[in-house]
Amino acid sequence: MEFTRRAVLATPILSALPAGALAAEAASPRLVQRLRDWRFHLGHGADPEHDFGWGRDQRTYAKMGVAADGARQDFDDSRWEAVQVPHDWAVALPFAKPAAPAPKEREDAAAAHGFKAIGREWPGNSVGWYRARLDIAPTDRNRAVWLEFDGVFRDCTVFVNGYVAGGSESGYAPFQVPVGDFLDYDGGPNVVAVRVDASLGEGWFYEGAGLYRHVDLVRAGPVHVPQWGSVVRTCDDGTASIVRAEVEVRNAAASPTTAELRHRLLDPDGREVAVLPPARLALTPGATATARGEARVPAPRRWSPDAPALYRLVSEVTVAGAVVDRYETPFGIRNVRFDAQRGFLLDGRPVKLLGTCNHQDHAGVGTGIPDALHAWRIDRVKEMGSNAWRTAHNPAAAAFLDLADEKGLLVIAEARRNSTDATAMGELERMIRRDRNRPSVIAWSLGNEEPHQGTARGARVTAAMQARVRELDPTRPTTFALDNSWDKGVGRVVDAVGFNYRTDKIAAFHAAHPDVPVYGSETGSTVATRGAYANDTGAQVVRAYDTEHPWWASTAEAWWTVAAANPYIAGGFVWTGFDYRGEPTPFPRFPSISSYFGVMDSCGFPKDNYYYYRAWWRPDRPLVHLLPHWNWPGREGQPVEVWVHGNCAEVELLLNGRSLGRKAMPRNRHLSWQVPYAPGRLEARGYDDGRRSATDVRETAARPVRVILTADRRILMGGRGDAAVLRAELVDARGRPVPDDDRLVRFTVAGDAEVIGVGNGNPTSLEADRASERRTFHGLAQAIVRLGGRPGMVTIQAEADGLAPGRAAVTAAPS
Ligand code: GAL
Repeated sequence: MEFTRRAVLATPILSALPAGALAAEAASPRLVQRLRDWRFHLGHGADPEHDFGWGRDQRTYAKMGVAADGARQDFDDSRWEAVQVPHDWAVALPFAKPAAPAPKEREDAAAAHGFKAIGREWPGNSVGWYRARLDIAPTDRNRAVWLEFDGVFRDCTVFVNGYVAGGSESGYAPFQVPVGDFLDYDGGPNVVAVRVDASLGEGWFYEGAGLYRHVDLVRAGPVHVPQWGSVVRTCDDGTASIVRAEVEVRNAAASPTTAELRHRLLDPDGREVAVLPPARLALTPGATATARGEARVPAPRRWSPDAPALYRLVSEVTVAGAVVDRYETPFGIRNVRFDAQRGFLLDGRPVKLLGTCNHQDHAGVGTGIPDALHAWRIDRVKEMGSNAWRTAHNPAAAAFLDLADEKGLLVIAEARRNSTDATAMGELERMIRRDRNRPSVIAWSLGNEEPHQGTARGARVTAAMQARVRELDPTRPTTFALDNSWDKGVGRVVDAVGFNYRTDKIAAFHAAHPDVPVYGSETGSTVATRGAYANDTGAQVVRAYDTEHPWWASTAEAWWTVAAANPYIAGGFVWTGFDYRGEPTPFPRFPSISSYFGVMDSCGFPKDNYYYYRAWWRPDRPLVHLLPHWNWPGREGQPVEVWVHGNCAEVELLLNGRSLGRKAMPRNRHLSWQVPYAPGRLEARGYDDGRRSATDVRETAARPVRVILTADRRILMGGRGDAAVLRAELVDARGRPVPDDDRLVRFTVAGDAEVIGVGNGNPTSLEADRASERRTFHGLAQAIVRLGGRPGMVTIQAEADGLAPGRAAVTAAPS
């Protein structure tokens, strides 16, 4: 049994208890149990016999508690696969090219989702069933019990003990399912089953399938704070921050009651810094009431990307003197605003948004990203100097946003559907309720490149969404990502106008609309294959110089030089930080299964452009980065185009010790040389104030002799479900990276852990992701290893035929 981070903060720590000891803890105010362990089986989108009886007869919705065999309490699921959530079943499906001659739309749709055999043409792959046991004690009879799903892809029906208990039609919005009425409190087993139908997508990118985000079982006293029942807002009075809290209390009991609510504010070190006045709430059965209060925090520690200080509001509900619920709300003290002249302002100070757009997708695991991998991905963009992230094009996982709050990332949180139908409004509302206390979230994006964006209808829809946003959260601006018509339709409605690409058009817009804040909602979009330095259309390879981009996009240099020079441009979000599955651009055809847009590849291995951004987004850290690699056998004497990204004032290039000249680095640009190839050592030396400040070297490597394996961390504190990211690199006898002699690497694990996915960043690789072996690509491969939960040493070995194996060890700390 495991408990979530927030639950551990908010409740007595129960993770040390043996299973079944819950009854003894019945007096605890609130229990939140993360449901990681599920049984999984594919169902069927068209054939009830292969869909565990779903729709086979009239039982489905006609009679209660017998909806389908697969939903039944006593159904034998022992032969179903044991899986851990987050889980994406699509990532393990085969790749499939539509049979020729396929209509273009079919080919496009298949490409959009990364050529996985999922969708309406693949009914046998497009429905999945999950089942899990709920650990329910007799004393839970007196509690409110519900499930919290943070997002399921896509349509799902949730059954409890055979009853249809709830469901969702969105692939990205969180939702809650009350389950108390369907439980057996004196025995059980109590079973939750979820039928997930991923036949229809919502995006033009890979979206995964299944329970790809967390699911929690929550048991709270009958008088409790409901899900997302708190709002914390702060404002400044010159010397202090005024913290205003609104907390809801619900009475789920059958009799009226009077509850008292007390709140304390804890600073980032856990010290109490203020107490809000207590409130008394008279609650009739079924009623929810809101208590409001405020407190002053003198000399607060302000939240920023560099110092993400998190405070907590701890709300305790008491009835007749006994604490019946405790609810914690992390929040940050900071002020955000977009200004039409000065750009984005954090606490009144301009902070350029150095952002990337990303989908929730990573090599090996697809959309089923473990929390540790979310953290790792945030660390990679921050290391590059990025301070911002746009959650394209949907509400993000709560686990990701928790980390954005903790690590300091400015997030544009995007709604999936720009519509006012009841479903879309429900999704919008739930996103805002879930995320409105987060200091990381700086704006609500109400849409992206909608066909109606420039029309009166689009404006009407967006204005209605915006009005609802303002009711739920008057503190943050709205925005919209447009690729044309910036001065019409929705562009006239939202607070900040996003330019998707077309950086060259921003100046004219700004001149015509000097009162409207602007930023690049999607920018750059250099396409590149990591480690490749020559275009090869036949092999679907794009060189990794900052030169190739689709017609609507630009190079990194082209947009950043403009954004950097103009303070009124609030910044930009590169499309994209990481390559993602689907939307294979610039090769929208088999076997390209992922995009080439990333500053990093799908494993998070940097492409060369990463260093362009790193240079200019962290100008205080001297950097030079050389490209290409220096293994060009057969090209001796021929010119090779050599680039240096970097931020040193001057750069000297040397080949085998001989200087090829020293040049001044133009600000926000790069340097290049034509160098006649000779094997050996190519070196770039950066100088500032006449002194050497940075160096980079490419050396001609010989054949690989060993694998170097490195783990991202040596000690993993997170317990079960925590994950390590392993990097395997081929090197020659002198330890030089080998860029052009790839090998199959097999990963094995000793200790309580398993490889859950592998990748290599090659956009045309059709190798399996859910596997424990992978060919390197330009010398690199990645494995993601998930802990089983027992503390101790875990050793991972990476072997390749004929090479000395690499080993890495991590310690799973007791959690
Ligand atoms: C934009 C869109 C993104 C992605 C990108 C590819 O139009 O918003 O989701 O499709 O183009 O260049």
